[in-house]
Amino acid sequence: MMGEVILEAKEICKYFGGLKAVEKVDMQVEKGDIFGIIGPNGAGKTTFFNICSGIYQPTSGDILFNGESIINQRPEHIAKKGMARTFQNIKLFKNMSVLENIKIGFHNRTKTTMFDAIIRNKKYRVDEEVIVREGIAILEKVGLSEYRDTLAGNMAYGLQRRVEIARALALDPQIILLDEPAAGMNPMETHALMTFIQNINKEGYTIVVIEHDMKFIMSMANKVLVLNFGQKIAEGTPEQVKQDEEVIVAYFGKGLDLGGGH
Ligand SMILES: Nc1ncnc2c1ncn2[C@@H]1O[C@H](COP(=O)(O)OP(=O)(O)OP(=O)(O)O)[C@@H](O)[C@H]1O
Ligand SMILES: [Mg+2]
Repeated sequence: MMGEVILEAKEICKYFGGLKAVEKVDMQVEKGDIFGIIGPNGAGKTTFFNICSGIYQPTSGDILFNGESIINQRPEHIAKKGMARTFQNIKLFKNMSVLENIKIGFHNRTKTTMFDAIIRNKKYRVDEEVIVREGIAILEKVGLSEYRDTLAGNMAYGLQRRVEIARALALDPQIILLDEPAAGMNPMETHALMTFIQNINKEGYTIVVIEHDMKFIMSMANKVLVLNFGQKIAEGTPEQVKQDEEVIVAYFGKGLDLGGGH
């Protein structure tokens, strides 16, 4: 039985001059999914995410979020509707504390104006209080409370990645797009991240995750999309994708361990 579709891509194409970075890619993410996207370097994964989140306009095709086309909408607008994302390259303010970085995630949600902030009126102070309280609650949720006053730039790589995810949660999204969240992590950090993502998924967040770490995707995702040279070459459960001839030959190379671990 099909669940409710929350994010849908319809024949998405993105060309950079003559380069077909994404070519006719369809995707249907259902509520509650941990949806994995894999593919070799340059396969078009990040470009596809940039289209889903409104950072790029597609050359053609459509993106539906909760049934509504979001093509031509600004990224902030899409974020406000409930789609959060993290980036392949960490984008934290390194000279700001962890809590301050999280607070930026709330920016979209309050109605405080620049004027309110400059004169620090009642409205600003009330918003500020709420934001600090919620920011602290999110840090507790992701197990980062002890780092609230640490400068983001001074943290271990794996922790910085987690701060980014926490900041995405501050948007109060329905769906979170993660671009290679385990990149650069050691096995222990990766394992902790997997547990963390599974926990937030259980709380009701739908997750779409690009990842190179095959074990990560194969053990976490309930559905996997495989891209190669901009095209979808397979889609299905991890088990189906692992057995797909085209995936084995074209992408993984014969005899490669796909993380089944037997
Ligand atoms: N803004 C851009 N202008 C021109 N070409 C681009 C642009 N962004 C991406 N590309 C090209 O599009 C193709 C797909 O890139 P993309 O970053 O989406 O791949 P990816 O699957 O995320 O790769 P990786 O695993 O290395 O992150 C690549 O050939 C890349 O060089
Ligand atoms: Mg990428």
